[in-house]
Amino acid sequence: MRKLLPLLAIGLLLGSLAMAAKFRTFAEIKQSGKVVIGTEGEFPPFNYFDEKNNLVGFDIDIGNALAQTLGLQPEWKAQPFDTLLIALNQGRFDFVIASHTITPERSKAVDFTKPYYCTGNLIVAKPGGPKTLADLKGKVVGVQVGTTYYDFIVQNNPGVKDIKTFPTNPAALEALLSGRVDAWITDQFTALEVLKKRGVKLQLSDLLNKEEIGIAVAKGNQGLLSALNNALDTILQNGTYERISLKWFGKDIRCK
Ligand code: ARG
Repeated sequence: MRKLLPLLAIGLLLGSLAMAAKFRTFAEIKQSGKVVIGTEGEFPPFNYFDEKNNLVGFDIDIGNALAQTLGLQPEWKAQPFDTLLIALNQGRFDFVIASHTITPERSKAVDFTKPYYCTGNLIVAKPGGPKTLADLKGKVVGVQVGTTYYDFIVQNNPGVKDIKTFPTNPAALEALLSGRVDAWITDQFTALEVLKKRGVKLQLSDLLNKEEIGIAVAKGNQGLLSALNNALDTILQNGTYERISLKWFGKDIRCK
């Protein structure tokens, strides 16, 4: 026991150190001249790879504009959505822009900027399919894993038959198109993008909720957080944000 206690103490210490977020301060980032940005790359039109395998989208343009405003060279890294915030706290990126909804749960793990856009979820189905939350009773619902779409249907479950999770949002769409799920819960703009790009007939419900979308920094990276908030204010005011938003959506999607 006498030998075990110090070991236990060391174990606890290591445990708490491992939990503390690892990050580069804003001064260190400035010093290096580049900022490392994490995203997913499977969430059109916000972050995705185009036909030429370039990472593009609204999130990417906003991330680049913020980097430029801060006088930094952006370096992008893409990886699965549900690994992004963990990797952020391990120091793999300086910030993450991947259309994360600001939630109390996530705010315990990371720090979010003020929202860079506002949106809402809806139900996508084949024509004649479920149109309201109540219609989902007895139906199979598909959502991307680790998203607020999943949380939403769990918390507002009208008695669905099953909730199927998919590694990416487009995978949930494919499941809907092939009839493996009856409905897909997703962001309104991602649904509109499918109608525009895929030319498929799908029915969209009214918005189910309101979500504020933020950029995440490692927990406690206060310097970088305020730099990003200031840069966001700058591009919201100098026309850069509006230009990017019009390019992707034909309208300004900032929070009103
Ligand atoms: N806004 C939703 C959330 O925070 C979905 C985000 C999905 N983003 C992505 N890159 N797939 O859960």
